[in-house]
Amino acid sequence: MKNEMILSFRASLENEPFARTCLASFIASLNPTIDEIVEMKTIVGEAVSNAIIHGYNCDSEQTVIMKAMIHDRTVMVQIEDRGQGIENIEEAKQPMFTSKKELEHAGMGLSIIEALCDKMEIISYLGLGTQLIMIKEFHHDQDRNDS
Ligand SMILES: Nc1ncnc2c1ncn2[C@@H]1O[C@H](COP(=O)(O)OP(=O)(O)OP(=O)(O)O)[C@@H](O)[C@H]1O
Ligand SMILES: [Mg+2]
Repeated sequence: MKNEMILSFRASLENEPFARTCLASFIASLNPTIDEIVEMKTIVGEAVSNAIIHGYNCDSEQTVIMKAMIHDRTVMVQIEDRGQGIENIEEAKQPMFTSKKELEHAGMGLSIIEALCDKMEIISYLGLGTQLIMIKEFHHDQDRNDS
């Protein structure tokens, strides 16, 4: 089975739960487990909040784009901003690295995303923006031990 969606929304933190819920309903046809839904919503929440807070410095005039694709039981999600970009991607991926310590960020968002998906890729150019691409495999119904 193949499916695709694209969503663009204003860079306001108010829209973070909207983006999470939207992705959760897009993947509903895969009959995901509760754990898989929670993981996917966490991934989207962290990625969207990074785009808004770091990419756009919370400028709600800007736009975040979320694309998602389903191919069999593989889900690809891409969160894109055309904001400030990441200076050093390897440094940004380190657990507890944050450029906003004063705002009490833990610097754990990207580490959490990396732990919850099967593959994470960051494409970012200073002054142009960031694309975060995440791939997650969903378990087959018959492989589950919760049914
Ligand atoms: N979309 C983005 N645009 C620009 N910089 C980003 C983006 N996403 C991440 N970064 C940079 O990578 C750093 C690490 O991101 P990460 O999500 O791991 O931590 P954080 O957002 O600072 O803290 P937390 O997610 O725990 O609140 C950020 O502090 C920021 O400097
Ligand atoms: Mg973050």
